[in-house]
Amino acid sequence: MSNIILMTGVGSYLPKNKFSNIDLTKFIDTSDEWITKRSGIKSRHYVSEDELTSDLAVKASLSAIKMSNLKPDDIDMIILATTTPDNTFPATATKIQHKLSIKGIAFDVQAVCAGFVFALSVASSMMKDNHSKNCLVIGADSMSKLLNWKDRTTSVLFGDGAGAVILQKKDDISKKNSDWGILSNVVHSDGNFYDLLYTNGGPSLNKKTGTIEMIGKEVFKHAVEKLCSSFEEALSLSNKSIADIDWFVPHQANQRILSAVSDRLKIDKSKVISTVAFHGNTSAASIPLALDYAIADNKIKNGDLIGFQAIGGGLSWGSSVIRFGHPQNK
Ligand code: ACO
Repeated sequence: MSNIILMTGVGSYLPKNKFSNIDLTKFIDTSDEWITKRSGIKSRHYVSEDELTSDLAVKASLSAIKMSNLKPDDIDMIILATTTPDNTFPATATKIQHKLSIKGIAFDVQAVCAGFVFALSVASSMMKDNHSKNCLVIGADSMSKLLNWKDRTTSVLFGDGAGAVILQKKDDISKKNSDWGILSNVVHSDGNFYDLLYTNGGPSLNKKTGTIEMIGKEVFKHAVEKLCSSFEEALSLSNKSIADIDWFVPHQANQRILSAVSDRLKIDKSKVISTVAFHGNTSAASIPLALDYAIADNKIKNGDLIGFQAIGGGLSWGSSVIRFGHPQNK
């Protein structure tokens, strides 16, 4: 039986506390000029003292559920991509499940900044295996909790936030609708690059959370190469070309990475959604946050063909091609 996995709802949430580059200069030895030139970032949001990753995720999820015209009751699986869970265990997805009174499966996926495309891939495979009909996929991170404020190269790059999408499985679809929903997912990892981007703490390593360590120049090089190659793979799997894609929603790490990838793939820059200037790098949240922003901005519409690309620590990376929305709304 042929089926499709539609993406019918999107939501996001940013914590209220907004920090501009100028605000950071009050406690970090940096400048607006350096951050803007090297990363394109102008501001980012940080959680308040008593705000948890699950709080951000719940707010984003409620908006996504509303957009899909479902109720929390209709959701039967929650997959949360995060690097900053509320507790080391259990999975923060189960706390979200409790807060939203959802029944079914709930677990976390850890692939750092690539977490959202990994979670999409896991969700779509599990839905095809009949584990779920309506799945909530969330990317949520409080990266400010992992920053070493004395390391100016990493601390200026990250921000906090959450984004969520609703996936719905439809069976027995007509041929004309077979080109909707998730058309391809490609994910990769290479642990040879473990030491390029990591935290210097962990429960088994030293019982600490740790802070981010990064060899920025190396990560940059791998990011451009791997985002391009995985996106070409995802295009080929979905029988699409760059020209077919209406919107590119890449992981928002650095404007220079976004520009280098679109130059190399010959993507029209007006089709690239960029929110890095005012979100910073929100890790697993960055793609669904940018997607929600682009919908609210009247750019992405029902039926548009969208490409996702992401890379993060591991290294882990991947890309997806999806036709967004529901054929009935066309
Ligand atoms: N403010 C002012 N000066 C700074 C800052 C800062 N915040 N940070 C570093 N500098 C200085 C350094 O001290 C150095 O000074 P020096 O030449 O006197 O020694 C100079 O700027 C250059 O430092 P580099 O580290 O070589 O800077 P680089 O040009 O490589 O830029 C950056 C750093 C922005 C991190 C870049 O390597 C990069 O974008 N890498 C990609 C990594 C990334 O985006 N990671 C996000 C997580 S992974 C992901 O999501 C894909």
